[in-house]
Amino acid sequence: MTTARNDTRVTLGGRHAHLWWIRPDTLTDPAELARGRALLTDDEREKTDRFRFARDRHTCLITRVLVRTTLSRYCDIPPARWRFRTNDHARPEIGTPPSTIRFNLSHTNGLIVCLVSRGREVGVDVESLNRANRWLDLAERFFAPREAAVLRRVDASERPTRFLEYWTLKEAYVKARGLGLAIPLTGFSFDLPARALDDIRIRFTPAIDDDDARWQFTLERFGRDHLVATAVQRDGPEPVRITLHEAVAPLA
Ligand SMILES: CC(C)(COP(=O)(O)OP(=O)(O)OC[C@H]1O[C@@H](n2cnc3c(N)ncnc32)[C@H](O)[C@@H]1OP(=O)(O)O)[C@@H](O)C(=O)NCCC(=O)NCCS
Repeated sequence: MTTARNDTRVTLGGRHAHLWWIRPDTLTDPAELARGRALLTDDEREKTDRFRFARDRHTCLITRVLVRTTLSRYCDIPPARWRFRTNDHARPEIGTPPSTIRFNLSHTNGLIVCLVSRGREVGVDVESLNRANRWLDLAERFFAPREAAVLRRVDASERPTRFLEYWTLKEAYVKARGLGLAIPLTGFSFDLPARALDDIRIRFTPAIDDDDARWQFTLERFGRDHLVATAVQRDGPEPVRITLHEAVAPLA
């Protein structure tokens, strides 16, 4: 893993993807936050200000700053110059200046991540492990029958974590496709290997027109409290290499 200030330049090859992460609570300097806010468009500032709770406003601001400063590590475009558009399902993408870079974002209490690739579809999801118990009953409704059956079978003590592993992977795939809930969540399922999590397979039912050979997945614990899943489009048997990069203050 590398750590990088916002002015560190990074090269991104076609066979690589970079997973940038930051703990928003580490950014507290008012002058830095003001500089970060100045990088945003009026719309982004309005979106940030609409959140009721200060913590959510902070996360939203840092997310916008993280994306802008991350993208600017790969080329000569200043962070404030990026303009984003959304696809029909609300996925943010680079609008201008045109770029081959693709990215996807996820945020939850205490962690923001941004997955970046060159031309490949990418999706990322971060979830807080503390939430698993609360959501367990959603499995029967939203998971594929194979996944729900595994959850019923595993030891009760393992169930919340296993639930969240499936959930995080499902979100990462849905986000890589950029289609949101237009994809039926029961239409695909994951095989989680018992030990090494480097051979995660997706299976599709006929409800989804996709090919399992087109995707690779990772699932990792981030500290004690978070789980992060990535979905990266591949174009052959050779895996895409994903490296972790910590973005550190000052970001702006
Ligand atoms: C956006 C979505 C895809 C994920 O939302 P989430 O898990 O609550 O939130 P995350 O923090 O992981 O992701 C939010 C980010 O995803 C991005 N995003 C929004 N729509 C997206 C889409 N259609 N595809 C990919 N990314 C999207 C945005 O950057 C957004 O952050 P921003 O608004 O600050 O820019 C959500 O709208 C959704 O449809 N989720 C599926 C809900 C569900 O039932 N999942 C069950 C899985 S088992």
